Amino acid sequence: MRFFASSLLSAALAAQASLATPLRSRSPYSVKETHIPPHGWEKLNRAAGDRYIQLEIALKQSNFAELERHLYEVSDPEHERYGQHLSADEVNELVKPTKKTSDLVHEWLYENGIEDLHYSAAKDWITIHVPVELAERLLDTEYHNYKHVDGNKVVARTTSWSLPRHLHNHIDAIQPTTSFFRAAANEETYFNAPAEVPESYKKPTDDVIARVCNVTSVTPECFANLYHTKGYKAKAGDKNTVGFNNFLGEVPIRPDAELFLKKYRPEAVESAKSFKAFSINGGPVQDGPLTANQSAEGTSKEANLDVQAIAGISWPVPIVSFSTAGEPPFNPDISTPDNSNEPYLVWVNWLLSQKKIPQVISTSYSDSEQTVPRSYADRVCKQFAQVGARGTTLFFSSGDRGVGGTDKCFSNDGKNSTRFLPGFPPTCPYVTAVGATMNFEPEESAYRAARTVNGTFRDLYASGAGFSNYFERPQWQKKVVDKYVKDLDGAYDGLYGKDGRAYPDLAGQGLYFAYFWNGTEGTISGTSASTPLVAGIFSLVNDALISQGKKPLGWLNPWLYSKGYKGLTDITKGFSYGCNVEGFPVTKGWDPVTGFGTPDFPKLVKLAGAKI
Ligand SMILES: *[C@@H]1O[C@H](CO)[C@@H](O)[C@H](O)[C@H]1NC(C)=O
Ligand SMILES: *[C@@H]1O[C@H](CO)[C@@H](O)[C@H](O)[C@H]1NC(C)=O
Ligand SMILES: *[C@@H]1O[C@H](CO)[C@@H](O)[C@H](O)[C@H]1NC(C)=O
Ligand SMILES: *[C@@H]1O[C@H](CO)[C@@H](O)[C@H](O)[C@H]1NC(C)=O
Ligand SMILES: *[C@@H]1O[C@H](CO)[C@@H](O)[C@H](O)[C@H]1NC(C)=O
Repeated sequence: MRFFASSLLSAALAAQASLATPLRSRSPYSVKETHIPPHGWEKLNRAAGDRYIQLEIALKQSNFAELERHLYEVSDPEHERYGQHLSADEVNELVKPTKKTSDLVHEWLYENGIEDLHYSAAKDWITIHVPVELAERLLDTEYHNYKHVDGNKVVARTTSWSLPRHLHNHIDAIQPTTSFFRAAANEETYFNAPAEVPESYKKPTDDVIARVCNVTSVTPECFANLYHTKGYKAKAGDKNTVGFNNFLGEVPIRPDAELFLKKYRPEAVESAKSFKAFSINGGPVQDGPLTANQSAEGTSKEANLDVQAIAGISWPVPIVSFSTAGEPPFNPDISTPDNSNEPYLVWVNWLLSQKKIPQVISTSYSDSEQTVPRSYADRVCKQFAQVGARGTTLFFSSGDRGVGGTDKCFSNDGKNSTRFLPGFPPTCPYVTAVGATMNFEPEESAYRAARTVNGTFRDLYASGAGFSNYFERPQWQKKVVDKYVKDLDGAYDGLYGKDGRAYPDLAGQGLYFAYFWNGTEGTISGTSASTPLVAGIFSLVNDALISQGKKPLGWLNPWLYSKGYKGLTDITKGFSYGCNVEGFPVTKGWDPVTGFGTPDFPKLVKLAGAKI
């Protein structure tokens, strides 16, 4: 009955929409993009027309190819321009839209009475706040509310939108329209739940590792010994910084960081108070403990893990925390008009407007690539390339479900066929994706099987792995990845993007990190843990470089695949798991579960061209 009623309603609304006054435009509309809602999304009622929505309009960049050429030159250790990173102004100059693009888009907006425009630093993005009804007319579409099975928040989205034909080549993307992206934290919380010694665990033979590394509660002392940062004295002062991202209302809690550092890295305890916290677009910052509401909602487990993992390994490198508001599950019916729902984009465009940015930034959030339309993934990835050109390494967690969760691996191409689910942003070639390991001698890919705990199904935890369906395999990883694919000998053919960008690029410990939350110690797992840890270690490599008058590593991948990999310990044991299969094997050499392996700090410093 309900279905019948709602289809009548949408038919009535569709009729009404087609009678709406057409917008003024110098050419007729045609469909610009169609994208089916991915598995797990349920379509509800029509979005309320009088509520406001914030639209981000991506204008075609004038010369991205040139920006990309610069990026490759300054990131290729064999090139004479290696390390000669670009300034904010140089980057903006290369990507700003042409006058023609800008004029045509402005004409279209002005003609439709939209005059309150906000711009990114390069003016390659325009942000507008408009009633849903106007957005619908502007894009000749209808917004409906959608709800994901895993949450109670509702988003207003459309599955197809149009533009006047003369604008198709001047606008790359407009969101939120067809994006069903849910930037979820890649943390596996077993707080107050028993940690289990992995079946494959063997006690280390190395006396020090055996003493300092506890497989069900790993600590900074363990990482410093395992990855050989122990005893390194950072010298670059505040010329070198390491940043991390917070979304979804997450905010690092200083009193919890203080408890953690007091216990596990006492000399670093002041950094709990001194790390800088930026609020972006009204994102939360706070100095005190969790409020009752925050602890009731379980907020800040991710943020606490991030700051504690970074401070524990990279002290005294100054830490910068970015908190960007805008939960992707965004309901224009209840949210404020200023609430954006694509927080990566808001964050990266804010970052690109800053003159001075951290040399390393860690992000522990992702979603399946297919939740984002290709055009949008492509543009956000290009924004990340611009950050790379500035000399910053962006680390992203590879995800926590291997090649995809249990019973969830379906394609989003209308065929609903079985398909592995790569994650975005880690599939973007301009970021460095970090997988997770466990155990010590040897380390192997992190894995904890799916189980039902007290009647609740808990999906598997396994280092996020795979191949992009959107981004082609870049030249720098072709040799090792082609070899890996060849050695698979046809296994899983048809389930993954055989020619795609493969990830992760490297890995780090990611099972049962000791951490504090709400004043209490617990453990937490995930590529959310390995990513800030690896970011912290690379910020120490940059410290060595910068304190010796050299340039930071910047976009890491060309260096990593040609040279830097020799400073990583190869992981050869485990499988990706996910999608109800064993998945990709971890092998000798590069593999799409642990990349080239885990950091060996002194080797990385030497390969980067600094003295240890
Ligand atoms: C399962 O529930 C029982 C009773 O509420 C509780 O004591 C126990 O800790 C729970 N187990 C886990 C793993 O959460
Ligand atoms: C290892 O960590 C667990 C917490 O997960 C703790 O109960 C145990 O006592 C620790 N073992 C040692 C030897 O410290
Ligand atoms: C705490 O949560 C309750 C219930 O969700 C809400 O009514 C209240 O406004 C919240 N308080 C604060 C300070 O956010
Ligand atoms: C795709 O197929 C699976 C398994 O047959 C089913 O559970 C799921 O609901 C289907 N999804 C769609 C969107 O048809
Ligand atoms: C958080 O800590 C407060 C104060 O100790 C306590 O009352 C509350 O139960 C804790 N909340 C959770 C979810 O552990």
